[in-house]
Amino acid sequence: MKAVVIRQPGPPEVMELSERPLPLPGDNEVRIRVRAAGVNRPDLAQRMGKYPAPAGVPADIPGLEVSGWVEQLGKTVKSFEIGDPVCALLAGGGYAEYAIAPADQCLTIPEGVSLEEAAGLPETFFTVWNNIFSIGSFRAGEKVLVHGGSSGIGVAAIQLVRALGGEVYTTAGTDEKCQICEDLGASLAINYRKDDFEETLKKRLQGANIDLILDMVGGAYTLKNIRLLAPKGRLILINAMSGQLGEVDLFRIMKRELVLTGSTLRPQSVAYKGKIATQLMAQVWPLFPDFIRPVVHTAFPLAKAHEAHRLMESSTHVGKILLLV
Ligand SMILES: NC(=O)c1ccc[n+]([C@@H]2O[C@H](COP(=O)([O-])OP(=O)(O)OC[C@H]3O[C@@H](n4cnc5c(N)ncnc54)[C@H](OP(=O)(O)O)[C@@H]3O)[C@@H](O)[C@H]2O)c1
Repeated sequence: MKAVVIRQPGPPEVMELSERPLPLPGDNEVRIRVRAAGVNRPDLAQRMGKYPAPAGVPADIPGLEVSGWVEQLGKTVKSFEIGDPVCALLAGGGYAEYAIAPADQCLTIPEGVSLEEAAGLPETFFTVWNNIFSIGSFRAGEKVLVHGGSSGIGVAAIQLVRALGGEVYTTAGTDEKCQICEDLGASLAINYRKDDFEETLKKRLQGANIDLILDMVGGAYTLKNIRLLAPKGRLILINAMSGQLGEVDLFRIMKRELVLTGSTLRPQSVAYKGKIATQLMAQVWPLFPDFIRPVVHTAFPLAKAHEAHRLMESSTHVGKILLLV
């Protein structure tokens, strides 16, 4: 099969299309004939040698999510049949003509979503569900701040929180991105390059009244985030793009009983991811297409994976970038 391989850590051009042996599924796995693969920010970190693949997945083929057709079943797989269209969360190996996925991490294609668009759903929806709903214990009626509202993660978080009864505030880097975030359901999107998000939100909400914050920025955002949280508020980190060290106000954490936490999806077990898959199918997939829609910025052929990475590095996209096989 053809696969995009990272030759060595470095810029996008270190990725090239190569020939690889067809991968074989283990007992509880399926082989998927890939139609499309989603591009995610963690793929960029992997390409630069900063986010190595866990044991058991190809170390040099990036790709955390795909869509396609089930093409071969492992011995014990009962939940899918050959030919079924699926989308799947992977721990790696998605930028290829064929990929192996644990059957428990495969999902059906939601109603009204094309097979291609579905490639961009698993990584973002697993991450958003795990952090906001499982770890963050979101409840309807709560106010949620999503940083990076125009990211793949952001467009999923805005729509899902809104669909499940929350009020969403968000930040993004241009007025155009802010407008798109509001069109997707955010009550207010703040252009963080123009306005201070903490001051703007305190004015708007008459004080520190955010119940839950999903943050990928970290660094200097940390203290500002803490100062925005309502009593029993939760700050949930999924990355620290502007720096892994941040200042915290310990007395504020005590007095307001705040929770600071976070998670990374990739190293979690198949059982853990399988539980998320079950919850997504039951509680989130039925919200398509009336309350949630995929937001795809653009798609590149597999051989142009380096161009897809360049685009993501430029941060001029909104929503998901896909690779088509
Ligand atoms: N922990 C996990 O399990 C997990 C899983 C998946 C993804 N993630 C993380 O979630 C984030 C989003 O992933 P993605 O694939 O959706 O990526 P993406 O579409 O490239 O989004 C990244 C976003 O970050 C914003 N951004 C970049 N630098 C920033 C800065 N210094 N300050 C404020 N905003 C900044 C960009 O928006 P502007 O251009 O508007 O600034 C862009 O929208 C990434 O950091 C990724 O590593 C974590």
